[in-house]
Amino acid sequence: MILVTGGAGFIGANFVLDWIATVGTPIINLDKLTYAGNLGNLTNLRSDTRHIFVKGDINDRALVARLLKQHQPGAIVHLAAESHVDRSIHAPAEFVQTNVTGTFCLLEETRAYWESLAEPAKNRFRFLHVSTDEVYGSLLPTDPAFTEATPYAPNSPYAASKAASDHLVRSYYHTYGLPTITTNCSNNYGPLQFPEKLIPLMIRNACQQKQLPVYGDGLQVRDWLHVVDHCAGIRAALQKGRIGETYNIGGNSEKTNLQVVNALCAILDTKLPGRAPHSRLITYVKDRPGHDRRYAINAMKIKNELGWEPAEKFETGLLKTVEWYLANEAWVENVTSGAYRNWVETNYANRGAM
Ligand code: NAD
Ligand code: TYD
Repeated sequence: MILVTGGAGFIGANFVLDWIATVGTPIINLDKLTYAGNLGNLTNLRSDTRHIFVKGDINDRALVARLLKQHQPGAIVHLAAESHVDRSIHAPAEFVQTNVTGTFCLLEETRAYWESLAEPAKNRFRFLHVSTDEVYGSLLPTDPAFTEATPYAPNSPYAASKAASDHLVRSYYHTYGLPTITTNCSNNYGPLQFPEKLIPLMIRNACQQKQLPVYGDGLQVRDWLHVVDHCAGIRAALQKGRIGETYNIGGNSEKTNLQVVNALCAILDTKLPGRAPHSRLITYVKDRPGHDRRYAINAMKIKNELGWEPAEKFETGLLKTVEWYLANEAWVENVTSGAYRNWVETNYANRGAM
């Protein structure tokens, strides 16, 4: 039995589905169901007794303590977070509350639980913290990719809150001996991603013949990791990673945002030829404040130590992702009703071209 936090979000739901399909042991899924969490992501598990969903907040220490005592998980995979940089610019408080204080609450209750365990369960227990490459800050075009030794230099409230949580996790290993592992991954893409992030937002807008809002000059670089590869990387770190260590997980796939958007448009031109060329919808809008220019991950440590490397090529992964969104319009409609519209208004209204 493992406890997953944030398992109704994009990566969390993919991880839960992947875990049930590959490992098959039970999961308790603790998720607050914010705007980003959606039980519709887990409908395939509706009648699967191996998946126990609990709606709740990681800040609710009594709830976390009760779940740990009742279910005695052998590991925690911590994914719950506020995850969108643009939202952290508009409203940072929630990022501190969930990413920093929430992680602290989870660590405190985990420590109490772990200290109560007898061997061999105590020795086998793991706390796996899922973090981001954004904690390392921004790279120049010729800089080497981030390694696990790159100093932290977060630039957005989101990145700063994740950096703070990474430091707390680190300190619980060094101070209390809690068996933690941290993974820092690059930008994920794939099915079930909420359409506030670049790839699903562009697919949705293009399908609706709306403008494709590229921030600034569109030459910012991200390293794209397919979410299924990421899930395999988390499993590898959980099962074989050394405690107290951090592992970078990347897709070996650096692209500028414009390359990504143009690739999406080209795929959509073949799928919906009547509306081609979709690239005519590309619109340059006001840049994100403090926008990091480039992220790149050196994933040699996890490859050499744990034998993990990404299997999906960006081109095929992107094609499958577009196909998934085209086949799941009802899902997109469902998650973008209501509050989503307010967010689009807040984020794009003053950028000029939308
Ligand atoms: P997401 O925003 O899609 O999902 C987050 C989930 O956490 C949601 O289901 C939400 O309901 C839940 N949640 C939020 N606050 C909570 C709270 N206080 N208590 C319990 N649940 C809460 O995020 P994601 O993209 O799936 O990211 C998952 C993790 O991976 C995050 O920690 C994020 O920082 C990290 N990460 C994501 C990416 C990416 O590209 N998406 C890249 C690097 C790292
Ligand atoms: P995003 O998906 O928000 O991920 P992150 O900021 O965590 O990397 O954005 C990916 C890149 O795409 C980032 O450089 C910002 C850019 N972007 C746009 O150009 N337009 C948009 O509408 C969005 C949401 C992002």
